[in-house]
Amino acid sequence: MNVAAVLRFDSKPSRNSRIQTACITLGSVAPTIVAAVEAEEFLFGKGLDESTCAEAARLAVRAAQPIDDIRGTAAYRREMVRVLVARALSQIRDGTERTSLPEAPVMLWGQSNGRFPALDTSAEFFDSDPIETTVNGRSYQVRGANDKSLLRLLREDLALIGTKEGCAEGECGACTVFLDGIAVMSCLVPAPRAHRARITTVESLSEEGLNPVQKAFVQAGAVQCGYCTPGFVMSAAKLLEEVPHPSRGHIQQALTGNLCRCTGYYKIVEAIESAAR
Ligand code: FES
Ligand code: FES
Repeated sequence: MNVAAVLRFDSKPSRNSRIQTACITLGSVAPTIVAAVEAEEFLFGKGLDESTCAEAARLAVRAAQPIDDIRGTAAYRREMVRVLVARALSQIRDGTERTSLPEAPVMLWGQSNGRFPALDTSAEFFDSDPIETTVNGRSYQVRGANDKSLLRLLREDLALIGTKEGCAEGECGACTVFLDGIAVMSCLVPAPRAHRARITTVESLSEEGLNPVQKAFVQAGAVQCGYCTPGFVMSAAKLLEEVPHPSRGHIQQALTGNLCRCTGYYKIVEAIESAAR
């Protein structure tokens, strides 16, 4: 579960400053993201002392409607909402909300500025229109894929089966491709998003012989079943474009969206270090 908190103060955040607006949202504790409205209203005009943080956290719990499932109980999730909201508020007050974050996190957006090119909204796009897209430098017109994910368009309509489906819900990274130069999980991208966009898949990395990352994976033995490997290779290639001489921390950050059930990750990290060299 996750919590986002944005507070506006009447002066630099401290124990004495007063809150002018508060926005607190909770993720994964209800069917949708929910706003903790009672907590937001409670915070208006207050300073963030310990008791205010604690009361706002208690009120935030009332907005959560978590379920019991195999991953955790509803009671546990409610308690975590309380803990996370209290922690977020006190960190904002103390100015420490960024303390545990890296100075310049790896974003896997390569040399781009992290922004997708503005979409062309001048022409309407109808359900029956073909998706016109460029994949690995080749132009395609794809019909009948408008209700698919980008992953399914690549695999089923373009026969680019290097990109894998692991979870189909954004957890494993096996489906990583580049959309206009930015790494995305193609299982979460609606296929029409590829319209007039530039897609790069793992197939393009080896058009002129294996990419250094692929060579290093082979040499380090960073592959077992290989199902996750295209996703790791894509993330690693994008990392090296963004940070040509990554530290081990950079590599670990870059791979946080990729899961492997076989290798134990050591060889994968070694391979990326070797590819960077
Ligand atoms: S298949 Fe897309 S993240 Fe797992
Ligand atoms: S090598 Fe098998 S899942 Fe990664």
